[in-house]
Amino acid sequence: MRKIHLLDKATISKIAAGEIIEDPASVVKELLENAIDAKATTITIEIRGNIGDYIKISDNGTGISREDIDYAILHHSTSKLNSQEDIYSIHTLGFRGEALASICHVSKMQIITRTEQDESAMRVFVEEGSIVKREETAGEIGTSILVKNLFYNTPVRKKYLKSDTREFGKILDLVNKISLGTKDISIRLNRDGKNILMKNANLSPINRIYTVLGREIAENLIPISYETENYTLEGFISNNKLFRSTRSNQYLFINGRSVRNIEIAKEIEKAYHTLIPLSRYPVFILDIKLDPILVDVNIHPKKNEVKLSNESGILGSIYPHVARVLNPKRDIASFIEEKEEIKPLTVFEIYDEKNIDKNTENFSETKIDFEKTPYEGIINSDRDYNYFSKVAENEKSYDYTLHDAYKDFEEVESENPSQRKFEKIQGSNFVGILFKTYILMENVADDIVYLIDQHAAHERVLFEKFRESFENEKVASQLLLMPQTLELNPKEMSAVMSNMNFLKRLGFELEDFGSDKILIRQVPIVFDSPARANFIRDIIENLDEIETSYDSNLYKIMKKACKAAVKAGDTLSEREVFSLLGLLKECEVPFTCPHGRPTVIELSRNDLEKIFLRQI
Ligand SMILES: Nc1ncnc2c1ncn2[C@@H]1O[C@H](COP(=O)(O)OP(=O)(O)OP(=O)(O)O)[C@@H](O)[C@H]1O
Ligand SMILES: [Mg+2]
Repeated sequence: MRKIHLLDKATISKIAAGEIIEDPASVVKELLENAIDAKATTITIEIRGNIGDYIKISDNGTGISREDIDYAILHHSTSKLNSQEDIYSIHTLGFRGEALASICHVSKMQIITRTEQDESAMRVFVEEGSIVKREETAGEIGTSILVKNLFYNTPVRKKYLKSDTREFGKILDLVNKISLGTKDISIRLNRDGKNILMKNANLSPINRIYTVLGREIAENLIPISYETENYTLEGFISNNKLFRSTRSNQYLFINGRSVRNIEIAKEIEKAYHTLIPLSRYPVFILDIKLDPILVDVNIHPKKNEVKLSNESGILGSIYPHVARVLNPKRDIASFIEEKEEIKPLTVFEIYDEKNIDKNTENFSETKIDFEKTPYEGIINSDRDYNYFSKVAENEKSYDYTLHDAYKDFEEVESENPSQRKFEKIQGSNFVGILFKTYILMENVADDIVYLIDQHAAHERVLFEKFRESFENEKVASQLLLMPQTLELNPKEMSAVMSNMNFLKRLGFELEDFGSDKILIRQVPIVFDSPARANFIRDIIENLDEIETSYDSNLYKIMKKACKAAVKAGDTLSEREVFSLLGLLKECEVPFTCPHGRPTVIELSRNDLEKIFLRQI
C-alpha cells in the first residue's frame, strides 16, 4: 500500500500559517506592517477579552480595492513586488504575500476597507481561507481588519500559548518597537477599552522615546548620528548610568524595519566595556538607512532578522563611532578645558555608595533616594557584616548545645567533605585581604593557603538566606516611612500589575498610583544596597518571564538581588571574616556563588613551588 500521499490543501495552509503566525503578537505585527505599507497616518490596535479572542487593527491608509480583495487573502499574492528583481531591493515591510492568507486560515477574519475611489466601504467575512460573505457598509477610507478566535482550528498551537500577561507583553513589545520606529504615524493601543499606549505623529525623536519607553530612559540618552559612504546612522545610545539586565531595550531599525542583529549589538556593547557593570547591557535606539541591496531580509519567514552584506561596512565602523560619542575625550584632547571633562564612572564607582546620588541626580521625579529614606530599624548595608556576626554568634551557642547532646554523631558529621574542608579553612590563620576582595588564609599544618572571594561568598550567603525566607513565605519587609513613587513605562506597568502577588511574596508592597506610576510602600530587606532602585527595575524587567512563584526565573531575580546587595571594596575585619566563613559553611552550596563562580580557591605549597619553578 502506498504510504506517501499529498496533504490536503487545508492542512498545507495550516502548516504554512504556523511559520508566520505563531502567536497573537505575530498577527498584530503583520497587520500593523500592512497598515504602514498602505501609508496610514493613524493606526489603532484594539485587543479585547482573552488574547487572541479579538484583535482589531484599523488604519486610514489606501484601502484595498474591490478587484484586489479576493487576491489579498491568497497565498503568495502581493501588491508589493512586481518582478523577481524587486526581491533584491525591498522598500516595503511586506513582500511575501503570505500574511493575510496565513491569518485567515487560523482565525475568523473580517475586513472592512474603502479606497479613495469607492463611494462606500465593503465588508468581507473570511473563514478557512475563503470569503464566505460580502456586504456594503459605511466606513472611512482605509482598512480595518478584525481577527477573532485565533487558532480556534489549531488547538495544539492554542494550547501552547503562554499566559495572557505574557502574550500581551509580546504585543506591547512589538507595538513599542513599531511606535519607536515610525515618525509620521499616530499609534494607539487599546485593551478592553483602556488606552495602554498613545503615540502621536510628528513627535521629536526624543519625545517619541519618552512616550514609549518612559522618562528614565529618555533622560539618559546621548544622541548619535553619522554618515559613511554606505549608510547613515541616527539615534540614541545610553550614557553609562543607564543599563539593563537584558537586551530587551535595544532597538535597531534598518530601513524602517525593526530587526534583531546580535553582531551589531555586540559591537556597540564593546564600547561600554568597563563603563557599565558586567552582564549589563546598554540601551539604544538606532535607525540605520542604507541601500536595500546591501541587506537581505529574506532570510527568515518572520522578516525580523536581516543579513548585512560585508559591503555595508556597518560592523567594521560602528564601534569607533559609538566609543567617540560615549567618551569624546578619547581622541579630542587639547582644546577642551580639563574641568569640563565628564568622566564616565567605572563599574566600581557605580556601585560605590558615594556615587549613587550622582548617578541618579538627573531623574528628579523618578529618583528613589533610598539613602535618605527613613527606615524603621533598618539593617544598614554597611552593617550587614555586623548583622551576620550576630547571627553567627547565635548559631554558635546553638551549635554548642548540639555538640554536647549529640557527641556520638560528631564523627559521622565530619564525614561530610565540604564541612571538613570548612573546618580546615576556619582553623587557618587569617593573613589579610588582597585587593579589598580576596581573603587570604594560611593553614600551616597542611601547607595550604586559601583564597576566598569575599563578594562571591557574601552573595552566596545572601542568596540562600533570601531563598529560604522566600520559600517559607518569610521575606522580611521594611515599611518605608515615606513611600516612594516610581515612574514606569506602559510595558513595565502592565507587568507589575499582573504580578502584584508575586511581588508581595518577594517583600514589596506596591500600589497603582495613577497612569504611569507605582507607589512603593514596603521593600524587602535583602535589597538594602546602593543600587537598589535599579534592581527593582531589574525585577520588573524579568517579570513577564515568571509564570509561577516557584519558577526557576525567581532564582534569577534573587541572584541579581543578592549581587546588588554586595558592594565592592568593603574591608572586613578578622572577626567579620570568620563570621562570613561560618555562614558560608552553613550554605547548601558553599563553594560557588549563585552565578557559579568559585568562592574558595585552594593553593598548596606544592602549587606555589611549581609557579616559582622550585619544582618541576
Ligand atoms: N491595511 C491594508 N491596507 C491596504 N492594503 C492592504 C492592507 N493589508 C493588506 N493589504 C493588501 O493585501 C496584500 C496582501 O497582504 P499580506 O500581508 O498578505 O502580504 P504582503 O504585505 O504583500 O506581504 P507579507 O506576507 O510579507 O506581509 C498586500 O500586498 C496589500 O496589497
Ligand atoms: Mg503584509
